[in-house]
Amino acid sequence: MVHIEVARAASKTHLPKTLVVFVRKTGNKTEAIGADLDIAPVLASLEEDGLTHRDLKKGLFLRSVGEGHDRNVLLVGIDEKTKELEDIRKVAATICQCLKSNKVREATVVLEGLIKGFKDTTAAAQAFTEGTLLAAREFETYKTKKSENNSDENSSTKKGSAKKDSTKLEKVWLVLDKRSNAANITKGVDVGRILADAVNFARDLGDTPGNLMTPEKLADATVDAAKGTKLKVTVWDKARIKKERMGGLLGVSLGSAVDPRFIILEYNGGAKSKKPVCFVGKGLTFDSGGISIKPSAAMEEMKFDKCGGVNVICTMLAIARLKLKINAIGLVPSTENMPGPLATKPGDILVARNGKTVEIDNTDAEGRLILMDALSYASELKPAAIFDAATLTGACVVALGNTHTGVFTRDHKVRKKVSEAADVSGEWVWHMPICDHHLSDMKGTYADLNNISSTRGAGASTAAAFLEQFVDKDTPWAHFDIAGTGWHVGSRLNYCPKKGASGVMIRTFVELAKIYS
Ligand code: BES
Ligand code: ZN
Ligand code: ZN
Repeated sequence: MVHIEVARAASKTHLPKTLVVFVRKTGNKTEAIGADLDIAPVLASLEEDGLTHRDLKKGLFLRSVGEGHDRNVLLVGIDEKTKELEDIRKVAATICQCLKSNKVREATVVLEGLIKGFKDTTAAAQAFTEGTLLAAREFETYKTKKSENNSDENSSTKKGSAKKDSTKLEKVWLVLDKRSNAANITKGVDVGRILADAVNFARDLGDTPGNLMTPEKLADATVDAAKGTKLKVTVWDKARIKKERMGGLLGVSLGSAVDPRFIILEYNGGAKSKKPVCFVGKGLTFDSGGISIKPSAAMEEMKFDKCGGVNVICTMLAIARLKLKINAIGLVPSTENMPGPLATKPGDILVARNGKTVEIDNTDAEGRLILMDALSYASELKPAAIFDAATLTGACVVALGNTHTGVFTRDHKVRKKVSEAADVSGEWVWHMPICDHHLSDMKGTYADLNNISSTRGAGASTAAAFLEQFVDKDTPWAHFDIAGTGWHVGSRLNYCPKKGASGVMIRTFVELAKIYS
């Protein structure tokens, strides 16, 4: 775990040996910002070789520089106009990665160098903290021999590599100059830490495989994580789920040897009179497809089918830890989808909590079945708005790849607010169509609805139209299909793991909660 410490410029001796120095071009002059030692000769030499701040964007680590050759410097090139919070996140992640790969334990960053020009220094410090902590995360829980800073060539299986933790990045000092308001920066760091911790926890839960993260274990992990916060967690077991007429969640769980759970998280930080915002997440701890079984290639990735649910749990944790003055509810239906002897079969008809009947023509379209009950329940709570997150359709991956989360809503006000929230979080969303034609494609032959479309194409939209049937008409609602963005997002963002759960939409959901309350 990396700590970020805010400090006033102290005497050199108190600062760690490694300094992060920002290099930017102002006019035709290359400036080094944040250096308390003379690195002009280094810059001159770089310039002589035709290297500019642009060539330093990935960082250049120099050892034993300065008068006494006793300092290390990480040069990081930044643009003159670093204006977006997202730029700060990315620069922070670059710094973190360079420090890790150079086995630095502590380093000093003079934040002003980076956030100069940002009016909202709290938001800038928050973004810096998010970028650092999100990039710092490692997931080695199930490795008996931990690697050193994830460095490939330094596998700790070698005998004699006793240094281990001594080379982990432990602390980044944010050194402030006289002009900065320490209270604002500290506030930003605190908020950033809460958000990054929530996202990193979601990644850990997401990466945990199906045998170790069953619905029951997910519920237990939620109860544990909520300790010390004002979150109230209620967990319904199979008997209760049946009693609550959640025919979809129950139907999907029947082929599995482990029982489903329905997890309810409540946070009351706002006035009693204020309607809550409701978040719903698909918590499929493993999706084999059921009787309509999936091909075996990459089936192991279906442990990530719980990421919508996990991200809702972590959104609620973040809201509670931020002590937001709002009311919010999180709902996570959780089950496995397995082809056991009692499994739901193609052709079977299930009854949702709101009484609608659904013919199951493909047991692999199970996410919508557990969500239909959760959305019905959410509607009964008469919330200010409902947002759901689900790794719902392969079709969304085809449409948007692993860059953008697909958002579906017919409500223009909601649409605008989602865009606003995503602008603040920096997470990429893309608005997708949902209309009556998509709903017609979901009409059932023997039941009110079919769980798969009667036509080819627009699979993400027809799934959304199905979900819409379970949301109260007067309740603002948006559905977020994170099938492409929930995990394995590649190297597009340096503060997200290339492989593994991403924790996507947690930060956007927290922003939405703020907007709606
Ligand atoms: N969990 C999957 C969706 C998915 C697939 C997410 C691949 C990410 C990557 C979902 O339960 C599913 O299997 N959906 C089916 C629906 C179809 C049968 C209508 C799909 O998308 O193929
Ligand atoms: Zn499925
Ligand atoms: Zn699924």
